[in-house]
Amino acid sequence: MDLNGKLVVITGGGKGIGRAIAAAFAERGADLALLDLDEADLIHSKALCESKGVTAHTYLCNVAREEQVIAALDAVVRDAGRLDVLVNNAGITRDALLLKVKDGKVAGKMSLQQWQAVLDVNLTGVFLCGREAAERMALLGHGGLIINISSISRHGNAGQSNYSAAKAGVAAMAVVWARELARYAIRAAAIAPGFVRTDILGAMKAEVLEKILAPVPAGRLGEADEIARAALFIAENDYFNGRVLEVDGGLRL
Ligand SMILES: NC(=O)c1ccc[n+]([C@@H]2O[C@H](COP(=O)([O-])OP(=O)(O)OC[C@H]3O[C@@H](n4cnc5c(N)ncnc54)[C@H](O)[C@@H]3O)[C@@H](O)[C@H]2O)c1
Repeated sequence: MDLNGKLVVITGGGKGIGRAIAAAFAERGADLALLDLDEADLIHSKALCESKGVTAHTYLCNVAREEQVIAALDAVVRDAGRLDVLVNNAGITRDALLLKVKDGKVAGKMSLQQWQAVLDVNLTGVFLCGREAAERMALLGHGGLIINISSISRHGNAGQSNYSAAKAGVAAMAVVWARELARYAIRAAAIAPGFVRTDILGAMKAEVLEKILAPVPAGRLGEADEIARAALFIAENDYFNGRVLEVDGGLRL
């Protein structure tokens, strides 16, 4: 796909990996539609993209809420007149062990709230945005692309029952959608980043992070821009479809 003049929707486009992907697509001449919960962050991302000479529309939208997703994507098509790429990037963590027993007593469990919050945003949000974007792409008739941001944690990361389940789910959905949506000339793929330097890691204890980084052959965290370049590769290579691109510095979980 030639990105010049295309319209790219990025959920969680307010900061971190989403903002880096927005900037990378803007450099290729794509206009942006940035969805996020945080208005101030959206304003920053919009300014960054527009400094590269493209238009960036912003939409306050909780991806876990069906009515908000429908309203936001209706507004995108109304404002821009097209919808070529969706990057399903919005995500959260609520880490906890499934079960913690100390001195013969239960010291902790992952709560249903922790489980549900992550599943709502990281799995249901991806489903809702994917479904609504696919509908609009199919009806507009120009084909398109959906990229789901998965994670190395999809293989199963201790302390992340909720997150690992959701990230395995969005990788699987990319395969399903590649098969189902090819008839509308829509591709689907996923990116599985390793550990990337953004605010989301702020919730992780320093000693946990140190343990995680020790076996990374690259010997460092990834940068958001390195994930953005993976998104560009997928967008520009029309034969990349139904697969997960791993960008993790060589780490194996
Ligand atoms: N940073 C990493 O190490 C890493 C590794 C693998 C995968 N990921 C994934 O990459 C994606 C981006 O993460 P990041 O590191 O940039 O995190 P981040 O916290 O820096 O940014 C996440 C963005 O998503 C937005 N968001 C959260 N919930 C939302 C909701 N319900 N609706 C709309 N927007 C919402 C936030 O406001 C924020 O702007 C996530 O899906 C994350 O799981 C991150």
